[in-house]
Amino acid sequence: MKVDGKNIRPIWLNENKKIVNVIDQRLLPHKFIVTDLKNVDDIIMAIKEMFVRGAPLIGVTGAFGVYLAALNSSDEKNFNDVFVSLCEKIKAARPTAVNLAWAVDRVMSKVLKPSDISGKINTAKNEAELIAEEESLNCKKIGEYGLTLIEKISREKKGKTVNILTHCNAGWLACIEYGTATAPMYAAFDKGIDIHVWVDETRPLNQGARLTAWELGKYGIKHTVITDNAGGHLMQHNLIDLVIVGTDRSTFTGDVANKIGTYLKALAAKDNNIGFYVALPSSTFDFTLTDGIKQIPIEERDPDEIRYVQGLCDGKIKNVLITPVDSPAANYAFDVTPARLVTGFITERGICGACKEDVTALFPERTKYSL
Ligand code: MRU
Repeated sequence: MKVDGKNIRPIWLNENKKIVNVIDQRLLPHKFIVTDLKNVDDIIMAIKEMFVRGAPLIGVTGAFGVYLAALNSSDEKNFNDVFVSLCEKIKAARPTAVNLAWAVDRVMSKVLKPSDISGKINTAKNEAELIAEEESLNCKKIGEYGLTLIEKISREKKGKTVNILTHCNAGWLACIEYGTATAPMYAAFDKGIDIHVWVDETRPLNQGARLTAWELGKYGIKHTVITDNAGGHLMQHNLIDLVIVGTDRSTFTGDVANKIGTYLKALAAKDNNIGFYVALPSSTFDFTLTDGIKQIPIEERDPDEIRYVQGLCDGKIKNVLITPVDSPAANYAFDVTPARLVTGFITERGICGACKEDVTALFPERTKYSL
């Protein structure tokens, strides 16, 4: 996507192909800083500390981490043992987004095949780059399919503004290009459809207010940042036509883990008869789990992310304490929206119901062992 006229992705390999470059998303929208990740420890730190975040990007970062693991283990006598243990560490960096384990396993299994070290290193690099390209293409397709939903509403409203609510950031920053939830919005805007996006601020780290608002603004899409609790009120007053969110892990039976607060938006959408769609590439489906609420691991993060708020003050990024000094806080990062509240999945292969039958029909090659 373009930032100030320049094409940029949230992750890429540097010129000598030995360093992974990422946009440090903790500092946006106030500072645009590119960081070097030189080894597996850097990769793990960047995922944990959320320099990079969002399920598809976490997956691609993990894939490049496997490449660095291969590169950095090249002098080891017992290459495979050292390499596999580094990969396992990468997989454990964040628990909820299934893309991380999916991407690491995919690259790792390819690397274990060639017997020579340079073959292993090349395989890792090529596979990580391939995953990045595939995810970009997947998001493009998601945009094309999701566009049909927006076009339909626009026709029904006779060209009046289509109001879409989204939660957190499932934009290009969270993916490689286009985003998942935002891809249909970019596609609709490109087609000249009048849209406006309600952006949930998404406490505690404000990925909506900081990142989604920044992305949409750079693209010229009309948007308004709202508090996390405003969505229900707007729905009751016919100010939302459609909800599109991303997901960190969805079971093939239709349950959706996404940023904390997503479930409450789905409940409100159901009560107000508004379509609640989840946009995802197939790398975000978990074909091993059947009950999202019981089985998807929900990350609990540092309570200080709740106790403090980050913002710009006198030109500097600062953290400000907003709770009493000694009040405890609990920081559940994700929740699970049960399948019954999800109108449909928007995937790279089309739109389908949030149920085992529809998902397995779209992705038969992924589901043959799960039924
Ligand atoms: O904690 P984050 O910022 O990694 O959470 C991100 C989300 O919840 C996104 O909605 C999800 O990963 C989908 S990104 C296309």
